Amino acid sequence: MSQRLWGGRFSGGPADALAQLSASVHYDMRLVPYDIAASRAHARVLERAGLLTGDERERIIAALDDLERAVAAGEFTATIADEDVHTALERGLVERLGALGGKLRAGRSRNDQIATDLRLYTRAHARDLAADLLDLCEALTAQAELHRGTPAPGMTHTQHGQPITFGHQLLAHVQGFLRDLDRLSDWDERTSVSPLGAGALAGSSLKLDPVAVAEELGFKEAAANSIDAVSDRDFAAELLFVTAMIGIHLSRLGEEIILWTTTEFGWVELDDAFATGSSIMPQKKNSDIAELARGKSGRLIGNLTGLLATLKALPFSYNRDLQEDKEPVFDSLDNLALVLPAVTGMVATMRVHADVLAAAAPLGFSLATEIADWLVRKGVPFRDAHEITGAVVQYCGKEGVELHEVPDDALAAISEHLDPSVRSVLTVEGALAGRTTPGSTGPGPVADQLAAVTTRLASW
Ligand code: ARG
Repeated sequence: MSQRLWGGRFSGGPADALAQLSASVHYDMRLVPYDIAASRAHARVLERAGLLTGDERERIIAALDDLERAVAAGEFTATIADEDVHTALERGLVERLGALGGKLRAGRSRNDQIATDLRLYTRAHARDLAADLLDLCEALTAQAELHRGTPAPGMTHTQHGQPITFGHQLLAHVQGFLRDLDRLSDWDERTSVSPLGAGALAGSSLKLDPVAVAEELGFKEAAANSIDAVSDRDFAAELLFVTAMIGIHLSRLGEEIILWTTTEFGWVELDDAFATGSSIMPQKKNSDIAELARGKSGRLIGNLTGLLATLKALPFSYNRDLQEDKEPVFDSLDNLALVLPAVTGMVATMRVHADVLAAAAPLGFSLATEIADWLVRKGVPFRDAHEITGAVVQYCGKEGVELHEVPDDALAAISEHLDPSVRSVLTVEGALAGRTTPGSTGPGPVADQLAAVTTRLASW
């Protein structure tokens, strides 16, 4: 009998080129624990359908247990001739049980098996991903707590805009990662559907019990449509979107850390354990983790667009094109499992130079908006207040002075609405303290935000 699961109607073996192209064992053997879990559930269903005796079911499950152990111990390895994980495991079963090993395939197809395996795999690994994300959020929040009151330049267009606190800036990154955590949990809800029982595409004439299988495998429900069950890879594409989004968030954080650690900024210094050196320039301390976080986002986006392109215009139901779903999913999850702990370590151990940040906070005339708001509080229309303040900034630029250094007569000359008491709003502390509305960078709202973030992190 052929080792292949489909040899019966063929007179010869596959061409070597076909076998090489077709094989997925070099990457799909990581699905073994999930394929075996599904097989255990299927064996129980076959018994209840009267297609296996209790004794046969017991022997099959014992062989599956042994096979799982043998794979983990490296005693059982797949070969190209096995084609895929399902074929390899059936060979292992037949090696252990003889003809009985061939009974388990009844009512089942690799099409519903692979869709089930990948859902199980991604659900398990998305939970690990969420745990890694949570660690990063905690590291960012701990730094934010330390620097909740540290004044810093707030930027738009990478130019000084208005003073903020450094904690507020770090918490802005946490907000994005919290949305990613939300995305992972609602993705899990939608992915909690079991394809097993769909067979090749049409369901089975045997008395299977997809609902019981779904329950045993931890799915909320069994698929409503057997064709959809084997054709659908929305869950894989959606997960790749979430991983790409996480990658983009990491790259934006990475980019900022790269800037913050430059000689020009000097806001942050990385711990030696989380920085790299140069093979020729002895003085260098490079932020390779941040750069790899930024760089990896490219492949995460590529994995998403690659799978979307594979799925586009694919007719229902199963087509072999779908075998292309696994490598991008594995690659994105593997890479985030590498990047996230490194970024977390880098963030947790970085030293923030609060003095440099505080000194930089008022630079670039970042308190100009305070003058405009002061004028507005005096009843000047914002349009005029903006013009007047612009003239003050122009004066400073020309005379080489800061906003608070503009002499009384110059203020009066610029506008009848200006007088020396405007200087009272020209401090970073005043600008920060004045921001009391929810979500803004003042001490009150930042404290509220910290409390809310901490509660959410603790409740995950
Ligand atoms: N290795 C295949 C995949 O990853 C499993 C399903 C194969 N099904 C088939 N009818 N050839 O999609």
